[in-house]
Amino acid sequence: MDNTGVILCHDMKLELTESINLCAPDQLYVLTDETTHALCWPLLQDVKALAQAHHIIIRPGDVNKNLETLSDVWQALSEQGATRHSLLICLGGGMVTDLGGFAASTFKRGIKYINIPTTLLAMVDAAVGGKTAINFNGLKNEIGVFQPAFRVLLETEFLHTLDTHNLLSGYAEMLKHGLISNYMTLNELLAFDMAEIDYDQLKRMVGLSVSVKEEIVEKDPKEQGLRKALNLGHTIGHAFESLALSQQRPVLHGYAVAWGLVCELYLSHVNAQFPREVMRRVIHFIHENYGSFIFTCDDYEQLYQYMMHDKKNKGGIINFTLLNDVGELRLNQTATKNLIYETLDFYRENMGI
Ligand code: GLY
Repeated sequence: MDNTGVILCHDMKLELTESINLCAPDQLYVLTDETTHALCWPLLQDVKALAQAHHIIIRPGDVNKNLETLSDVWQALSEQGATRHSLLICLGGGMVTDLGGFAASTFKRGIKYINIPTTLLAMVDAAVGGKTAINFNGLKNEIGVFQPAFRVLLETEFLHTLDTHNLLSGYAEMLKHGLISNYMTLNELLAFDMAEIDYDQLKRMVGLSVSVKEEIVEKDPKEQGLRKALNLGHTIGHAFESLALSQQRPVLHGYAVAWGLVCELYLSHVNAQFPREVMRRVIHFIHENYGSFIFTCDDYEQLYQYMMHDKKNKGGIINFTLLNDVGELRLNQTATKNLIYETLDFYRENMGI
């Protein structure tokens, strides 16, 4: 384990028991959604330290990452006798760890929580780094706090039963971590065969990927500067995600990020000399594995408006994280509307739509 409390598990039951003992809680609560309660809880249910745990089960899905569910969790903690010395274990994907982390961080001004992410996206991103949130007023992650988990336990056994789409969704964030770190990491990610998964190699790559994020979060936990590196691919990616949702054809977050990476690598190439050959290799991998997000030039203005309203902007200026090269960051970049339209043209021409 490192000093941010993330453990790549060798023996999850033992590591969880040790973490609970270290906390010495008066009461223990396990938060799951209906899916992770059915599929993931069985892997933990014979842990002796959890024998007396209270269970809080919420409805799954991002639509339930809201005030009502949060209130249900507070209510359950309150009615079942939680005190400031209690511990909440969040077992699930990013929805459970985001909402559970926020519930724990606010209940009685904050109790400890442990994240056990069960999806690849949550393992390499959502559950690590202390961002907690719920959606509010139609806006994603609108209300939340920065409050790191006491521990994050990464058990890659859960990935064996994760469907390919959700695996690829998390893998997009790993590609992002590769791009902002170094060629060795990126090359291994691009050479990995997603059709024939080597789970031992994937486990090692998850550990490496998380360490890229942790190193950044340690230096800039509240996103004052360096943490913006983690936004690579997300400005245009979020616009794709919002457009897809508005057209009733939602896409998984990581898919939108992968398509956003295609665009933002092009912007990096044009504005920051990012090498064309590397851009081509990444685009090829994304096209092969993620297919394309279909849109026409009639959607450009709407996509541009989504970018204009991205919460990372300051003073009405679209904020991009770009790269000079792999691992060479250019934070707080912007682009003209013309260049953004040209980027969308590039995307359509190079992604076969
Ligand atoms: N998901 C990006 C971050 O944690 O900063």
